[in-house]
Amino acid sequence: MSEKLIEMVDNAGVVRLTITRPKALNALNSAVLTELEALLTELEKRSDLRALLITGAGEKAFVAGADITEMRTKTPEEARAFASQALRTIKRLETLPVPVVALVNGFCLGGGCELALACDWAVASDNAIFGQPEVLLGVIPGFGGTQRLPRRVGPAMALDLVTTGRKIDAQEALRIGLVNRVMPQAELEAYAEELTKQLAGNGPLAVRSAKQAVHDGMDQDLDSALALETSLFALGFAGSEQKEGMSAFVEKRKPNF
Ligand code: CAA
Repeated sequence: MSEKLIEMVDNAGVVRLTITRPKALNALNSAVLTELEALLTELEKRSDLRALLITGAGEKAFVAGADITEMRTKTPEEARAFASQALRTIKRLETLPVPVVALVNGFCLGGGCELALACDWAVASDNAIFGQPEVLLGVIPGFGGTQRLPRRVGPAMALDLVTTGRKIDAQEALRIGLVNRVMPQAELEAYAEELTKQLAGNGPLAVRSAKQAVHDGMDQDLDSALALETSLFALGFAGSEQKEGMSAFVEKRKPNF
């Protein structure tokens, strides 16, 4: 049996996926993408899932991009198939019904940055480096960067990054809104644990609905998106979660979701 490229740890519905190719700075090749898609297919089915955290093995890189060695000899047809596989996989990560956190512990370049862009949260260590350096290799981002980056940081900054290929540090990534938090590397794990605990402690259906409202609403006109919010808000009153949450408030106790 071939060696696993993604390690999965499940802690009461908080799942951590670690891309484990440290010798290639966790670069995404087809084998990693295949494994990631298979894991996401299983995770999509789990009603007990509360949050997903994705990171890279080692202290040097989250993911340093798509695998250049594998891509080097591809024909246009093969490149299209590779990008399609990655886009499909990354989309599944994006649409997983629970919050997805990218724990960026080092280089986050090219396909790595595109992976992080599909996550709801990005938490970076203070030594993390971001960028879309594809033009330096004579290509453009192919895993969604030209589309998700402008939606996250605005078209001007996205064009700056994708046309120069320049790398930015974690503080600049925070300033432009590419990441949510920057932590000293030594505190990154503790922060991730605290964050996932917080996410997992909230009403699980409410958290799923909140994610759905933001994601689905972004692609709609404002009135349709507000109608979606109203539907999801009302739906929240159909189950036990709202009753428990509001009763706990009134009774001055912690809710037990
Ligand atoms: N693909 C394949 N292998 C990679 C890689 C990648 N994206 N990034 C790093 N590696 C490999 C290196 O080849 C090297 O392997 P060997 O030890 O066998 O030589 C190993 O990882 C360690 O890397 P370096 O020796 O280069 O480490 P460094 O500290 O000197 O530099 C770095 C680190 C700046 C991240 C540098 O490795 C680098 O520039 N990597 C490429 C980054 C990049 O261009 N990413 C975009 C890829 S294209 C893409 O992602 C397209 C897309 O949108 C689909």
